[in-house]
Amino acid sequence: QIDPRSYEDLLIIAATIREIAGDRAQADIGIICGSGLGGLGNLIPGFPPLHVPGHKGIMLFGRIAGHRVVCLQGRFHPYEYNMNLALCALPVRVIHQFGVRTLLVSNAAGGINPNFQYGDLMLIKDHIFLPGLAGMSPLVGINDDRFGARFVSVHDSYDRSFRKLALDVATNQGIRVFEGIYVMCGGPQYESPAEVSLFKTVGADALGMSTCHEVTVARQCGIKVLGMSLITNIANLDADNSVEVSHEEVLQAASENGARAAQFVKGILEKLPLA
Ligand code: 6GU
Repeated sequence: QIDPRSYEDLLIIAATIREIAGDRAQADIGIICGSGLGGLGNLIPGFPPLHVPGHKGIMLFGRIAGHRVVCLQGRFHPYEYNMNLALCALPVRVIHQFGVRTLLVSNAAGGINPNFQYGDLMLIKDHIFLPGLAGMSPLVGINDDRFGARFVSVHDSYDRSFRKLALDVATNQGIRVFEGIYVMCGGPQYESPAEVSLFKTVGADALGMSTCHEVTVARQCGIKVLGMSLITNIANLDADNSVEVSHEEVLQAASENGARAAQFVKGILEKLPLA
């Protein structure tokens, strides 16, 4: 049984993966693929998937555009793990052990901003981390200083120069990309129209059930972050005029738009300076 707050356990996990992957277990850039966006891993030529024991996810090491990357296909959602956010964010600390200092994180999200259309991409400019605000932060508990600071400033979580670079890539590729505020809800139920209206009132642009815990841990480690949401559906705002939101629809939307998202990420990696 892993204790996600134990630095010794983190070292054991990293050593176990190194036993399997050998010298391949090194990377400068980590990529966490959101629902249906696992196709990003297909950008890595020539490397067989590495199945990490005990996880249904896949950890791929390889190169994209000359960068050494590690791609996590699949993630741990807090609603699946009794809101154990430190556990769910553990992969970020693991890839930090492998050298990662830049994280590209993606998710499927519901659009709130009325300008958003199905299939749009939103660069995350800032977030509202609801579970974190309510005491379910991955950083609660006694802090081992080897993880980083006790009190972490998240004022600059989504690196400005990365966002600017990504917007330039979007312009070059002629794709619809916006910047906006992402809200992480606990889920797993989708939000009611009144809840979505609440978030709209406070300036949120998209909402989902992931990402903020990973970004918070990344910032504690000193990892720079670029985050993006694929808008898979338009969230309900009006109880008298609302539609069912389904996971199937979200996955379908992600697979229909995943290839464009992958090309966008590839374009970003081509522009990012090598470590
Ligand atoms: Cl509408 N809500 C949440 N929480 N997550 C989503 C979503 C909505 N659409 C895709 N993912």
